[in-house]
Amino acid sequence: MPDDLRPHGLLDAFRAILGPNGMLTQASDLEPYLADWRGLYRGQAMAMLRPARTEEVSACVRLCAEQGITIIPQGGNTSMVGGATPEARPDQVILSLARMNRVREVDTADMTMTVEAGLVLARAQQVAAEHGTLFPLSLGAEGSAMIGGLLSTNAGGNTTVRYGNARELMLGLEVVLPDGGVIHGLRRLRKDNTGYALRHLFVGAEGTLGIITAAVLRLFPAARETATALCAVPSEDAALALFRRFRAADEGAVRAFEYMSGIGMGLVMDHIEGATLPVAPGFEHFVLVDLSASREGAGLRGLLEQVLEAAMEAGEVLDAALAESEAQRAAIWRLREEHPEAQKRAGASVKSDVSVPVSSVPELIRRASAELVKLIPGSRPVPFGHMGDGNIHMNLEQPVGMDPAEFLARAHDIMDCVNEIVRDLGGSFSAEHGVGRLKTDMMEAWRGGAELSAMQAIKAALDPKGIMNPGKVLP
Ligand code: FAD
Ligand code: MLT
Ligand code: ZN
Repeated sequence: MPDDLRPHGLLDAFRAILGPNGMLTQASDLEPYLADWRGLYRGQAMAMLRPARTEEVSACVRLCAEQGITIIPQGGNTSMVGGATPEARPDQVILSLARMNRVREVDTADMTMTVEAGLVLARAQQVAAEHGTLFPLSLGAEGSAMIGGLLSTNAGGNTTVRYGNARELMLGLEVVLPDGGVIHGLRRLRKDNTGYALRHLFVGAEGTLGIITAAVLRLFPAARETATALCAVPSEDAALALFRRFRAADEGAVRAFEYMSGIGMGLVMDHIEGATLPVAPGFEHFVLVDLSASREGAGLRGLLEQVLEAAMEAGEVLDAALAESEAQRAAIWRLREEHPEAQKRAGASVKSDVSVPVSSVPELIRRASAELVKLIPGSRPVPFGHMGDGNIHMNLEQPVGMDPAEFLARAHDIMDCVNEIVRDLGGSFSAEHGVGRLKTDMMEAWRGGAELSAMQAIKAALDPKGIMNPGKVLP
């Protein structure tokens, strides 16, 4: 082990590995990367390392391990739980994957794409499309979130109902371990039972076990036909009934099934420029249904009309707007995807990214909304999200006029209030955003005992010095 290089020699040693453009050290350059998207956390770092190759990641990690410097892996920094934000101490570096953004290979015979961890999701979707295929992961932050971050959080998003989470879209991984060793696991096999499935350990580990540098992703046939509608429904139960109707009519056609409330839609109308509601005003519940098929002539428009007609006759749909063009489809999707931004602009909000069995979603929304308003009179429940897979963002917007700091001081009471109901319904306190820094204190109550001990043992075995993303995931 070399002598302690700090404080002066260490930056020079990183520079020697990364070259002159491979790191940021000026406070003003570092500034945008020290805080999270939600503005909940702010930390410090001596530098942001920006390696361009796996060997550089490995050399930097080895140096950090030797010198006891902690590493915060960062992709697009869109974490909702402060997962990529450094702690408030100087002996740490942010390791950004942004320069590792190459597409190493697209194989349309095997339907795989091998990409580096810093590739932005929207670009991955675009590359897949340029090859006549589909990479189906889709979420509001897709213009910034990167493949490494998406895998590290096992991101879900809008299409989980059909294609699964990020984990299901991954076949192989390349990972730099906390001692600098590299797992060269970029295999593209559909079957590979050769010992422990280590690649799955790093998916959802939120950077606490190593750094994902590249991945083999699954591709699918491109969509050749789509049909999309925004529907106003009378209740949460009607929304679920409509989902069941579509599933019964053609389960394979449902690409996304998203729920939104009247309050959430109101926030979008008030705060998002150009947002217009394509149905009559005044409804309290909405769903966005998106159908797609990989063959032309699949008859999706007919299917959509037929199911909605039957649902209207049964009183389960009150009004509906069917997209007549790609532009209208995008406008409908925008109403859904701008919910996080609208909430942010409307004031302070507390997010509860929870999941329950799909059949319990209406009860979750009803019970949690009622309890939250009792807890903080005047507050505005904004439940929305991925109804088709049971993941609702049971968010709460502050009462109009309340001091935001006063509202945020109640954040844990608010999350506890939702979580009590979620637990009762057999759900999870974190469906897709992960644990990050925000929810470590929930791990003991929800995963305590043998499960948490096993996680701690894995962490200690792979990262005995505790240099990988400290303070995240594990209490
Ligand atoms: P970051 O925020 O940079 O990092 C996330 C975590 O992964 C951190 O713990 C970080 O240390 C770790 N990490 C990053 N890169 C690596 C790597 N290469 N190796 C190891 N660890 C790494 N999430 C959903 O699941 N579904 C949604 O629908 C959704 N919608 C969103 C909408 C908006 C508007 C926003 C802002 C966020 C949304 N998110 C959603 C949350 C977020 O986009 C996801 O968690 C995403 O996966 C994070 O990707 P990122 O590249 O920004 O990762
Ligand atoms: C989304 O689905 O838009 C985000 O995951 C939810 C959120 O902002 O709470
Ligand atoms: Zn979501």
